[in-house]
Amino acid sequence: MEQEKIDPTGLLLLLCLGVSGCSEQQPEEEAMIDINYNTALNVQQVMNLVLEPASDVLWDSAGWVMDAAGYEELYPTTDEGWEYVRAQAAIVVESGNMLALPGRAEDDDAWMIYSQGLSEAGILAMEAAAAKNEEDFFQAGAQLYSVCTACHQAYNPDINSRFVDGTAD
Ligand code: HEC
Repeated sequence: MEQEKIDPTGLLLLLCLGVSGCSEQQPEEEAMIDINYNTALNVQQVMNLVLEPASDVLWDSAGWVMDAAGYEELYPTTDEGWEYVRAQAAIVVESGNMLALPGRAEDDDAWMIYSQGLSEAGILAMEAAAAKNEEDFFQAGAQLYSVCTACHQAYNPDINSRFVDGTAD
């Protein structure tokens, strides 16, 4: 029978079983990652469709604006309003994880630190929203903004100039 012949690739695979770091095993590991995470959305889509809309709600809900009618306070004024911004902050927390996934992360170094920074700023915003603490909420928004600009500066410096222009969306 055919099977009695020794297939050299099969033998190599057999030798590799259980040997971590064996090069023949890596493609299999990558295939597993594809099965576990759906990274069909690229980083640009995560930015535009997930992270930016949620962050915009946070920034638009912090501080004050001056318009024709005078000073307008932007902070939520109802329990529902604070719950809503808290949920947007939760999206920011999870966006940090989304960016850190294999298939999206650009490296295992600064990218990961910025991604975690996103989650940390999101947690602060969630806590401030739960406590309805305007000052802490404002600070969380400022911290969030600095993480966005730091990562863009490192990985895609054009984006920061687009932010200043207000043409990013
Ligand atoms: C871990 C790094 C990282 C962090 C943190 C990050 N970004 Fe980005 N962002 C990128 C990269 C890389 C691109 C370029 C993506 C591309 O065009 O392929 C980008 C692009 C964008 C774009 C432009 C998308 C387009 O259509 O070209 C917007 C808007 C954006 N980011 C918003 C944000 C906001 C808002 C935050 C913070 C709340 C943020 N980003 C945080 C890495 C990051």
